[in-house]
Amino acid sequence: MNLMNCDISRVLFDEQQIQARIKEIGQMIDKDYEGKEPVIIGILKGGFIFMSDLVRSISLHLEIDFMAISSYGAGTSSSGVVKIRKDIDIPLENRDVIIVEDIVDSGLSLQYIKDYIWKHKPASVRTCILLNKPEAHKTEMEFDYVCFEVGNEFVVGYGLDYGERYRNLPYIGILKEECYS
Ligand code: IMP
Ligand code: MG
Repeated sequence: MNLMNCDISRVLFDEQQIQARIKEIGQMIDKDYEGKEPVIIGILKGGFIFMSDLVRSISLHLEIDFMAISSYGAGTSSSGVVKIRKDIDIPLENRDVIIVEDIVDSGLSLQYIKDYIWKHKPASVRTCILLNKPEAHKTEMEFDYVCFEVGNEFVVGYGLDYGERYRNLPYIGILKEECYS
């Protein structure tokens, strides 16, 4: 019996749906970056599973790196305070960068990361996000690759956590309110 499953009120995207969508996104990236060697920057920790599946759906030469920023702590609402906990190691000057993020809620984290990456003088910066919560945005944002849109609910699994739990669920689901109230 999997204890985590009991805390999920509804499965939004199962393993097959996630893999099928990532395959499509990989094909788009292959086409858009033909002849280039992009740097894929995964945002830790939430993006780690998405990143590992995404890079395997891309058939171009590429480099990977990671950034870690502080986000929610153990709560479920955005603090707006962004702190870099792990910086990029690869020089990004004149490189084509794709930022890979788990979910855009208020949009404050991704906006900060994007502005920060541009300071390294890359040739281009695009964003690839697993989940978008359009109703929660606090800033005007456009994304280049989006796997799925979700409503204003707290979701976990496939890398996304609540209080560091549930990252290892193979699907994306809505966490029961009683689990965080
Ligand atoms: P933002 O700065 O408000 O867009 O927050 C983005 C970050 O908050 C994401 O990278 C996640 O780590 C976290 N987050 C936002 N919404 C959720 C959610 O529904 N489940 C789990 N983490 C979330
Ligand atoms: Mg995150």
